[in-house]
Amino acid sequence: MRTGGVEANFGCKTKDFELLLPSANTNELFMAQEDIFKKLVSHCKEYGYVFPSSEIYDGLSAVYDYGQYGVELKNNIKKYWWDSMVLLHENVVGIDSAIFMHPTIWKASGHVDAFNDPLIDNKDSKKRYRADVLIEEHLAKFEEKINKEVEKAREKFGAAFDEKKFRETNQRVIANQTKLDEINARYTKAMNATDLNELRQIIIDNEIVCPVSGTRNWTDVRQFNLMFATEMGSTSEGASKVYLRPETAQGIFVNFLNVQKTGRMKIPFGIAQIGKAFRNEIVARQFIFRMREFEQMEMQYFIQPGTEMEWFRYWKDIRMKWFRALGFGDENYRFHDHTKLAHYANAATDIEYKFPFGFKEVEGIHSRTDFDLKQHQEYSGKKMQYFDPEKGESYIPYVIETSIGVDRMFLHVISAAYLEEELKKEDGSTDTRVVLRLPSFLAPVKLAVMPLVKKDGLPEIAEKIVDDLKFDFNCQYDDKDSIGRRYRRQDAIGTPYCITIDHQTIEDNTITIRYRDSMKQERVSTEMLRNTIKDLVSVKEALKKI
Ligand code: GAP
Repeated sequence: MRTGGVEANFGCKTKDFELLLPSANTNELFMAQEDIFKKLVSHCKEYGYVFPSSEIYDGLSAVYDYGQYGVELKNNIKKYWWDSMVLLHENVVGIDSAIFMHPTIWKASGHVDAFNDPLIDNKDSKKRYRADVLIEEHLAKFEEKINKEVEKAREKFGAAFDEKKFRETNQRVIANQTKLDEINARYTKAMNATDLNELRQIIIDNEIVCPVSGTRNWTDVRQFNLMFATEMGSTSEGASKVYLRPETAQGIFVNFLNVQKTGRMKIPFGIAQIGKAFRNEIVARQFIFRMREFEQMEMQYFIQPGTEMEWFRYWKDIRMKWFRALGFGDENYRFHDHTKLAHYANAATDIEYKFPFGFKEVEGIHSRTDFDLKQHQEYSGKKMQYFDPEKGESYIPYVIETSIGVDRMFLHVISAAYLEEELKKEDGSTDTRVVLRLPSFLAPVKLAVMPLVKKDGLPEIAEKIVDDLKFDFNCQYDDKDSIGRRYRRQDAIGTPYCITIDHQTIEDNTITIRYRDSMKQERVSTEMLRNTIKDLVSVKEALKKI
């Protein structure tokens, strides 16, 4: 049970319910993952976390709004990231650049010419797909078959199982692996050469069908640029085409010298930014995992050429620690190193989290060489060089980039925190509670303050406590319904601590504090509240682990 050091502060005595199930990751044991995801999406809506955009007009595809609790969680995630970058590293500073940028920036960065997805339509269902995704999903099926064989054999042979030998000798595994390698080689070659006809041919040859119509009636494959364009200027003749930025990183690159000079920054140094990005995704799905309007938290770390592998390893380590410090289980994260590198990168990895729909990328870490700065130097005609006083020479710095989506991080946090628990009541019957086990420093509401009854001066005491504590952390006054229902409501929004004011409070200035995860309760003095809760909800302990 993940109770941390919480109870140790007060020494708990009672609890409102008995947990029947072990808590950590019981999700996997008791519900089909798809069901959990569906429940999570409705939970987000029901409890004011995420709403479909423009819902009264039937929504807008892949665009979402954050509700009253969602915005708090999102802000807390951003603060956790910002503090870990800017507070913890004295050589990392922040900026906030505009969404609209000079259109030549996107020519220089390669986005105008190369930020494309290959799309294909099924003529029967009229559904549009990414050709590369259709092929990758087909490849994943072979991998799944191989893994199933391996797991079956592992169960059969137990400790004596030699996986390497099994993979090399089992005929079914060999057949699937050969087919997989064959398709993968063709696919990689076609992608590298942007050979759209070959991509279509791979789909045809492998009899990949439309998941909706079940047919193989495909159109040609076409390139589709993911940038949204609009016009800037008041008259159609005088207006010029501008783009909604598809990444925040370019705002950092073009401000590199401004920050370096005005901040007297010495290499190595970093620039961090949080902001909106826009991509006209062909396949937008899995709720807020892939959106058309989203937010990124990016940091470019400017370094001496030749030192990039050392810094790449450094940031990989730091970023993995940042995830692990959330306490959701180290085994739920992994690196996925890229074997196929973008033309500007000489190393790249993703940090993946085990979502209910499998391990997926949450963050990308890229060694981007001097590609971007060099391109901007060429297109703008302005020098993008740094004079290194120690080396006595000027050069275009290399860059390590860490890039994470706020919304995808939000989805990671909320899916890791969501739990349905079966409880045993005092009378022996069972009940279920839905609880968001958010780390306290990320929880939208830190403390719910509840008068036991709405009379005898108890609401006034509760209001006074809220008035007193609201300057330190987010408190919520709650006097509707029975105490049990109020606890459930707070569990569902992830409030880590609830306090109850009762008649004894009037006599001895004590209150009952109830802990979300263990549901344990104890009486404590009101005077202890501020400092104890303040410590418990502080981001400090997590930051210290990075
Ligand atoms: N500057 C590098 C860059 O933008 P990326 O891998 O395209 O790299 C970085 O994006 C991160 O941004 C991803 O790991 C993901 O978390 C987030 N992201 C990208 N596209 C997204 C989308 N359509 N919806 C939500 N998040 C997205």
